[in-house]
Formats: sequence, C-alpha cells, structure tokens
Amino acid sequence: MLIARTIDELRQHLGAFQRPAFVPTMGNLHDGHLDLVRRAVPLGDVTVASIFVNRLQFLPHEDFDTYPRTWDSDCEKLRNAGCDVLFAPDEKALYPEPQTCKVHPDPALADILEGHFRPGFFVGVCTVVMKLFSCVQPRVALFGKKDYQQLMIVRHMVRQFALPIEIVGVETRRADDGLALSSRNGYLSEAERAEAVQLSKALHGMADAVRSGERDLAGIETRAMEALKQRGWQPDYLVLRRRADLQAPSAGEPLVALGAARLGSTRLIDNLEIDAKL
Ligand code: PAF
Repeated sequence: MLIARTIDELRQHLGAFQRPAFVPTMGNLHDGHLDLVRRAVPLGDVTVASIFVNRLQFLPHEDFDTYPRTWDSDCEKLRNAGCDVLFAPDEKALYPEPQTCKVHPDPALADILEGHFRPGFFVGVCTVVMKLFSCVQPRVALFGKKDYQQLMIVRHMVRQFALPIEIVGVETRRADDGLALSSRNGYLSEAERAEAVQLSKALHGMADAVRSGERDLAGIETRAMEALKQRGWQPDYLVLRRRADLQAPSAGEPLVALGAARLGSTRLIDNLEIDAKL
C-alpha cells in the first residue's frame, strides 16, 4: 500500500489509473470501514482510502482534539482489506490556506436532524468531501448507510455539481448485539456499551409500531424518546421520515427511522429502513 501525504504525491500515485474507487474516512477504522474498502476493490482499477480528521466538521465543544488517532493499526487493516493507496494529508497539506471557500449543501436536507443539532456539520463534511474528490478524482466513492443523512447529502451534492462519481451506500455493520459499529463506541464505558444497543432497539420498536398499523407518528416518536430518557439517555431526536428526502412522510411512502442520543458523554446515531409503508 502506497501512502501519500500530499496532494502532489497522491496525484503521482494515481496518474496511471482511470477508475479509482475511493473510501474517505477519519481513521480509527472498524469493520464497517473495512466493509467499504472490500466493496470498493472490485469497483475500480485502484482502491484508495483517506484518513483525515476534518476540523471543519467539528463544533468547538466537540471531540476534534480527542478523536482517536490509531495510525499503525489503521494502516495494517487497510492493507489487509485490499487498499492500494492511502491518502493521509495533515491539515497543512489539505488546507494550506484557510478553507474560506466552502460547500453549503441544500438547507432542506442539511439543516435538519444532524444539521440542526450540529450546526455547520454538513458544510464541513461537504467541503472536505468535495476537496477529497478533487484530489482523488474517483469514479466511484463508498459511504456507510449508518450516516444516512450524510450519504443522502453527498449524493445530492454530486448530482447538483454533475460530478462524474458513482456514490455507493453500504449497509451498516453491527456488533452481535445489534449496536451499529462506530469509532465513537470506543468512548463507552463497559456499562454504557451494554446499554448502547437500546438506541437500535428503540428504532426497531418504532418500526414495529408502524408495521402493526399505528399511524400516530408523533406519538410513536414521543414514546421512543421517553423510553430512552427513562433509561438515562439524552435523546436529540427519534423520528420517522420518508426515505426520499427525510421530510415528514405521507401515506404510501417508504420510511426510515433515525435517531441520535447521548449516553453519558458519548453521542450515538443510528437508523433503520422500514419495510412497511404508511
Ligand atoms: O463519515 C466520515 O467519516 C466523515 O464524515 C467523512 C465522510 C470521512 C468526511 O470527513
């Protein structure tokens, strides 16, 4: 696996290839990331991953400084998963001057849910993804469905800017008990780790309520929030939305349940596509 620390090095490594398949990450890799890399391998003529903890997508009080940086094990995992080129710039290499030119995604998609609770988050994500796309020039890029809203916003950005990149969404990898794998799971204490699966269970409960014919969506959402609060969580949202644009659903539309909640000092997110229509 070749490692590129600068945009010039990356371009030298990729010069001979026509169809890079690309997996952007912030490192601290788990099996969910490695699923993306393995899926990428047959889709391109070279498999590229990036590791860059992107300051632009963290709010001042968030965990940018403490975000786990696990370079040696990340490199080993990427190598074993079939990554050919790792792009790992430092901040000076990716943002040599202050990145004042930013990508502002559609507020209808980006100012709700995660964007409401983490203002500016998707501006940071879209700006770095656009810049990484410009560096790597992939033909295909892979994103996890765990970050459901992020995947949707990236797809929309790619479509609106007519970027010649196919975006592939990959199913969420889960632990045996059903907890969605996330780099932030490492922040959980043992007791919190045992409790953490309740977020996924809450989403399943919401899906069951819809499947059993309940149509008071606000009631379902409130019940799920209250149940988590009773268990000591601080939920930001648990909602049922239509899959197409994450707005309030109407009859007959495919649904997704999305949730974000804090357990102790760790904020977890998850989602569940529901195989029943309203
Ligand atoms: O999902 C992530 O890890 C990040 O948001 C991404 C896409 C690598 C951009 O920094």
